[in-house]
Amino acid sequence: MALSDSDITRYREQGFLAIERVFSPAQMAALREAALAIVDDFDADAHRTVFRTDDRDSGRDDYFFDSAEAVHCFLEAGAVDEHSRLNRDKTLAINKIGHALHDRDETFRAFCGHPWFGAALRDLGFATPVVMQTMYIFKQPGIGGEVRWHQDGSYLISGPPGIVGVWVAVEDATETNGCLWMQPGAHRGPLRERYAVDWDSGSAELTTIDDMPWAGRWKPEPVPVPAGSVVLFHERMPHYSSENQSDRSRHAFTLHVSDQDADWAPENWLQRRQLPPFRL
Ligand code: FE2
Repeated sequence: MALSDSDITRYREQGFLAIERVFSPAQMAALREAALAIVDDFDADAHRTVFRTDDRDSGRDDYFFDSAEAVHCFLEAGAVDEHSRLNRDKTLAINKIGHALHDRDETFRAFCGHPWFGAALRDLGFATPVVMQTMYIFKQPGIGGEVRWHQDGSYLISGPPGIVGVWVAVEDATETNGCLWMQPGAHRGPLRERYAVDWDSGSAELTTIDDMPWAGRWKPEPVPVPAGSVVLFHERMPHYSSENQSDRSRHAFTLHVSDQDADWAPENWLQRRQLPPFRL
C-alpha cells in the first residue's frame, strides 16, 4: 500500500490528499532536466500555440489536439508580443509540455512506472489504473499565468470511477510562486462545466452545466508543499493556482489516471487512437 487507512479516509472526506516528500530531490532533478531537454529541442518558430485559461478554452488548435499522443510545448501568454514573437528566451517562455510524456519520453515513462503511483491508485479503488495524460507545468517566474477555478472532470470525461489528478511538485510550491488551492469537501458539489469536441465539425466548446459559483459553500485553502510531494485529487475537486509573481519557478508534473474498463467519452478532446493503454 502507498496510502494509509487515514490517508484514504482523508481523501474521501476532503476530495484531495497531499503527501509530502514521496520522491527524492534526485528524482525531481531528473524530471526537470528531461523537461528542459524537450524545451531545448522545441522549435518555437514553428509552433506558437499559447496556453491560457481565461478565454473559455477558445484558443485550442490542431497542435493542441494532436498533443494527446505527442509531446508538444505550449507558450505563456505573457511571453508572446503583439506580433507573435517571443519576448524572452524560450526556456522561460513555456507554459507547459503535454500530453503524452509518459508514452513518448523515456525519463517520464520510467517515472510514471514507479510502483508508488499504481499502488496509490489501487488504494483508492482503481482496478486497472491507466494514465490518460501527463503534463509538465512550468509556472514561470514573473509571468506564470493564473489557472482559473475548474474541475478536471470537465476536461477528461470518463465513466466510473472517474479520473484522479496526481500532481507532483518538482519544485517547492508556495503561496508566492503559485501553489495549488483546493476546497476541502467540494468534490461533493456538482460538475460545473463540460468541454466537448464535435469531431465532425471540428468545433470544441466549454459549456456551463451547473451555475453553482466556485466560491461560497466550501472555503478555499492553499496547498503549499515541498518538492517531491504528491497531491492526489478527485475529478470534481475545484482547484486553482494564482499567477506566479515571484522570481522563482514552480515546476510540477501531473498525471491524470482513469481505469482501463471505464467508458471514455467520444467527445473528450483527448483521444488515444494509436497509443496502447499505459497501465500503472
Ligand atoms: Fe486542473
